[in-house]
Amino acid sequence: MSKAPPTSRPTSWWLDALRRRAARMYDGHGAELPRASFPSERERQAAIKFFNAALRAEESGIRQAHELAGDVASWDAELSEVLRLYGNEEGWHRELLTEFLAELGGEVQPMGKVTRTLYKVYARAKRMDTIVLTNLMFETIGSTTYRMALANVSEPAVRRMLTILTRDEAFHVPLNVHFLRRVLQRDPSGLSRLKKLYVLLFASLVLLQLASRPKAQAFDRIPTRALMRAYALELGRLFAREHDLALAPPALLLRVLGISPAELSHGAELSPTSVEAAARAVDREQVTVTALPS
Ligand SMILES: [Fe+2]
Ligand SMILES: [Fe+2]
Repeated sequence: MSKAPPTSRPTSWWLDALRRRAARMYDGHGAELPRASFPSERERQAAIKFFNAALRAEESGIRQAHELAGDVASWDAELSEVLRLYGNEEGWHRELLTEFLAELGGEVQPMGKVTRTLYKVYARAKRMDTIVLTNLMFETIGSTTYRMALANVSEPAVRRMLTILTRDEAFHVPLNVHFLRRVLQRDPSGLSRLKKLYVLLFASLVLLQLASRPKAQAFDRIPTRALMRAYALELGRLFAREHDLALAPPALLLRVLGISPAELSHGAELSPTSVEAAARAVDREQVTVTALPS
């Protein structure tokens, strides 16, 4: 008998967790904080860029989750409800970010060319497994960026926004691993295509930082190479323990960034995006968000 993957939880566990989270989602976030202020206009503009990128990710997340909820409804009502509640969390993030951008004196900006192309390709994806894997990888880099920014930013209002996002995305990553597992159980025919997609997206998301990093760097102060390495590490760790999924990261890119196979599998359960972290993150108020120094 094959051993159950360590990160596996039944859909009912996720549904129960999401219902509990939904009941408390709109609770207050403590005291009013003074409006965020920045040492320079350049940093304020960089912050606006940073949170615009976050907003686009949330928008895409809610849309894909709710579309999938509709598709899944015919074969798994419980999973469909999980997707709906998950999409609602992204919708809540979108609202928070829209308000926050206004507080920063910024607005929702049109996407840059590369980002627009990436989301366009993603929005056209039809296969459920493609959508889920792509979303999972977006969640992973989002969660990693937020945590690294937290280590560098001291502005209280900004830290609060980043903390909310970090905490929730840490729950969403293993949730998306669950989606992927369920979708593949139902139709495993796409696995070899997914293996290629994983490598392609992995390389694109890591290398894309060479082009898009400068825009937000004045705000988050994350060095390009450190962010690339952290993305590769967390994206690589995603399946380091999920042997049933058999998705292998691009070895050459890992080597170039100085990441050994041992580093991928060893820290995996300690990774903030692990299912253990998700279990700890169910009750938002109990979570201590740890920053990730770059
Ligand atoms: Fe989100
Ligand atoms: Fe998310």
